[in-house]
Amino acid sequence: MSSEGEISSFFESSPPLKNMEEIVEKLNQFINWNFSWQGGRRIVCVTSGGTTVPLEQRCVRYIDNFSSGNRGAASTENFIKAGYAVIFLYRRGTCQPYCRYLPDDPFLECFEFPDKTNNIQVRASHLEAVKMAVMDQQRVAVSERRLLKLPFSTIYEYLQMLRLVATALKDIGPYSMFYLAAAVSDFYVPWESMTEHKIESGSGPLEIRLAQVPKMISILRSNWAPKAFCISFKLETDSKILIEKATKALRKYKVHAVVANELSTRKEEVVVVSSSGNVVVRRDCDKPESIVEDNLIRIIVARHSTYIIESQLLIPSTSTTV
Ligand code: PMT
Repeated sequence: MSSEGEISSFFESSPPLKNMEEIVEKLNQFINWNFSWQGGRRIVCVTSGGTTVPLEQRCVRYIDNFSSGNRGAASTENFIKAGYAVIFLYRRGTCQPYCRYLPDDPFLECFEFPDKTNNIQVRASHLEAVKMAVMDQQRVAVSERRLLKLPFSTIYEYLQMLRLVATALKDIGPYSMFYLAAAVSDFYVPWESMTEHKIESGSGPLEIRLAQVPKMISILRSNWAPKAFCISFKLETDSKILIEKATKALRKYKVHAVVANELSTRKEEVVVVSSSGNVVVRRDCDKPESIVEDNLIRIIVARHSTYIIESQLLIPSTSTTV
């Protein structure tokens, strides 16, 4: 378990967020709007995509990981369907909610110039996907203000932003949830030991010593947002050790459940590991459009409802109804 000293020295030595005040303002407005809306909406922070590890302060090169952000985007859509407001903390450039069915390069592939006027139009082959994406995005993010997207790139940005979100959500206690699907770097180059300029390539093989990134789940649970419902993830490439590792993480970090997934089968099946037992969740193979997140989020939302009821029994008097 990472010590508080390791965690504070990580933050003290991190390059400060450039737009911290703007993020805090957006967060507070979003949380106030949603939590005062008709008695209050539940709010989930979905983290999504992988964090980068810069190798130079004026970064030219960085270490990255495989995460596409598909899980986070698909889960966000399902949380919204279940009535939640979502803070989508995502890696810049990865998969977005409501855009999963668009081609990789939507501007160039979806649109065409049918004649010599200035009018661009959507190609018939992509019309339905574009229409749905635009309509859902308009309804959820713009009209209902239920989706706040906050992009990050580096491990430094991600962890500072996660702390801001957790602090901002602290007051809504059990009505908030953390769904930590981002693939967070375990190793990094500490800022003060990083070279400022581009590493020279002419001096032969490169040796870099990576330090361990402190695990932030422990402080999230104990300090930042102790009353929030918290779901973490466990990814392994060896299915034989997956459940054992997830069970250890459940106990060690005292989260409410760990979603265990294996790299190659992650789109087909996950296991929800919790103190009430393990549940295997699969996509519905008989429905081609079905995704594992449809069933996963149903289970997570039901567990969150039980958690809220149990929390209300513990603190009966002033809690807001949702
Ligand atoms: O994005 P996709 O391509 O759709 O893939 C989805 C996914 C496989 C990335 C996702 O389902 C998943 O498993 N995400 C977590 C991957 C991961 O980082 O696993 P881990 O075993 O290394 O970390 C476990 C937990 O510790 C994570 O919830 C992470 O938020 C947390 N962590 C990790 C490092 C760190 N320094 N501090 C942390 O708190």
